[in-house]
Amino acid sequence: MPGTSPGMTSFTTKLCSEPDSEEEFMSANSALHIAVLGGDGIGPEVMAPALDVLRKIEATTDLKFRFTDAPAGANNYRETGKSMPESTVRLCDEADAILLGACGLPSVRYPDNTEIMPQVELRFHFDLYAGVRPARLIPGVPSPIVGADQRGIDLVVIRESTEGLFASMGKGVVTDTEARETLVITRKTSERLFEFSFRLAERRKARGRVGGGLTCVDKANVFKAFAFFREMFDDAAKRHSDVKADRLYVDACAALLVKRPWDFDVMVMENMFGDILSDMTAGLIGGMGMAPSADIGDRHAVFQPCHGTAPDITGQGKANPTGMILSAAMMLDWLADKHGLESAAEAGERIERAVDKVYADGIKPMEFGGSNGTADIAKAVLAAL
Ligand SMILES: NC(=O)c1ccc[n+]([C@@H]2O[C@H](COP(=O)([O-])OP(=O)(O)OC[C@H]3O[C@@H](n4cnc5c(N)ncnc54)[C@H](O)[C@@H]3O)[C@@H](O)[C@H]2O)c1
Repeated sequence: MPGTSPGMTSFTTKLCSEPDSEEEFMSANSALHIAVLGGDGIGPEVMAPALDVLRKIEATTDLKFRFTDAPAGANNYRETGKSMPESTVRLCDEADAILLGACGLPSVRYPDNTEIMPQVELRFHFDLYAGVRPARLIPGVPSPIVGADQRGIDLVVIRESTEGLFASMGKGVVTDTEARETLVITRKTSERLFEFSFRLAERRKARGRVGGGLTCVDKANVFKAFAFFREMFDDAAKRHSDVKADRLYVDACAALLVKRPWDFDVMVMENMFGDILSDMTAGLIGGMGMAPSADIGDRHAVFQPCHGTAPDITGQGKANPTGMILSAAMMLDWLADKHGLESAAEAGERIERAVDKVYADGIKPMEFGGSNGTADIAKAVLAAL
């Protein structure tokens, strides 16, 4: 039911498998250091309101932030021949969390015709295997799904983010007559991914989710790699008997997501399947601009909206900053868990409530036919905080 959500950002509470170091606590006790990579296109346009929201949080709580900007993306490649400088990677390594705007432009490409994608490089570099993509229909936002306004949508796609078909990135072989890319599924990553996913489902259940569970989405009927994936899921399910575990083939899952999205809670899947289905679930909750995301590893995490750089609307003040603002809320929830900072968890929830209020009060982004642009939405969220 709408309004009885376990909380869109409820993905944490000891989901980080590494114990916190003293150094990390020290960092948290002073100011939380946030690496800010604005990216390309509408990336910086939606980053600015998200930072304003965090500054307002800073002004009204005991939390302190230190923001450090760094370049990454297609524009940086155009200027320097690199997707991002070493200094950006170092900053991301040292910071407490990474906020990322969308990166890449269709017109800027490597010689092999692929795009500049530092966001994907960061996932590999920091082993950010769990791509967490919540899709919650905020009351007041129109969904294309009939009945969703009554029944609600509140699900989370967990997209494995370091292997699957993307393991082949930059390694594909193309000749005049054929092209090959290889999908990789490893035990090490899958086991951590399933552990993370079951703990998330448990956490959502503890926060009030009724009738939920975890669904493994694969193509185990056709490919050995996915049969292997499913076997490891089944093993993890035995260790988490408190969570209802389901399995679905990805094609059937796509149809069910459109027909009955309210039946889903947490879903876990291979990288490419997650890439596609998480855009679809963003569409179910109003559009790309509504959907936040996090790429989480054992030590680092990147927070960015699901959408891309939207070259068609760049520089026009039309971009919806909601997904970016909600990604900042996810960041606070993750930092709360990592450093035991209750006030950060509360701040994350406060941001979500402010966003909910703004939509309940009738704001309507241009993205779905309304007249409100970036500035209107940003101003309204700040006022509601
Ligand atoms: N994580 C990332 O950094 C990321 C993700 C996806 C795409 N990209 C890159 O972005 C570029 C454009 O990709 P695309 O067109 O496939 O996807 P896109 O998400 O940028 O745009 C798809 C459609 O959604 C709209 N849209 C997206 N975000 C919006 C927002 N916040 N508010 C209002 N409307 C919004 C766009 O105007 C466009 O019509 C490409 O270069 C692609 O590689 C980057």
